[in-house]
Amino acid sequence: MKTDYNQISIEYQLSKLQPWRKHVEAYSFFSILGDLSNLSVLDLACGDGFYTRQLKLRGAAKVVGVDISKKMIELVEEAEKRNLLGIDYHIQDVIDLEIKQKFDVISAAYLLNYAKNFEELVAFAKSISKHLKPSGRFVTINSNPDFRAPAQMLRKYGFTRHNESWTEGSPITYRFFQEDNSHFDIVNYHLEKSTHKLAFEKVGMTKVNWHPVQLSPELKKDDDKKFWETMIQTQPIIGLSCGW
Ligand SMILES: C[S@@+](CC[C@H](N)C(=O)[O-])C[C@H]1O[C@@H](n2cnc3c(N)ncnc32)[C@H](O)[C@@H]1O
Repeated sequence: MKTDYNQISIEYQLSKLQPWRKHVEAYSFFSILGDLSNLSVLDLACGDGFYTRQLKLRGAAKVVGVDISKKMIELVEEAEKRNLLGIDYHIQDVIDLEIKQKFDVISAAYLLNYAKNFEELVAFAKSISKHLKPSGRFVTINSNPDFRAPAQMLRKYGFTRHNESWTEGSPITYRFFQEDNSHFDIVNYHLEKSTHKLAFEKVGMTKVNWHPVQLSPELKKDDDKKFWETMIQTQPIIGLSCGW
């Protein structure tokens, strides 16, 4: 079942407040992205703009966000009204994207894991390569294809991750819990690391590097480190960068 973000836009936005998003996901994503000063950035699958806005606040000269969900873009536009950052947003499927501009950096937190097979992954890679400068870099944070831990191991961080099987295209269900123990699910799909490498190579992007997620050094106390050990050891998500 394909996840419809129009139905869960508010719940998803709330899930971005879980501490692991900041201390592991965002810290790792921005470490891979590096210095964005004066660069143009295209943020694909931008959702409610959680990262899109941070890209601009971290110094990017121009930022454009794209998402297929009208409701997610409505949330982004509300945030723009509260604090205008001058970001352009488009409601569009990444596969059909035609922006007549190439960018220094393309970011995409949790887009590639919506591809169910090699062909769909190549379609994403084609759109990315079409909008990236020859000197540019694509950076994503995504479901880690090598994750093998039991679903419940991550429950203490506010979510679980369940792989139906490890065959190509099989569903991965993320269940996010709120404070009152209510929950919602997001379904995406398993494709091996080698499939990702082949898909990007097919569009000429041969520099493909995986980046394990890390814990923010802000959390220096031993008690904190112990709490986060499971996430760093099991690596449910992983960074990926691709270039020419
Ligand atoms: C897990 S959310 C991530 C949102 C945001 N990047 C973040 O990290 O907060 C995935 C987003 O991908 C969008 N999406 C899924 N498939 C897409 C496609 N083919 N084109 C554009 N957006 C897509 C969904 O609408 C959703 O907002």
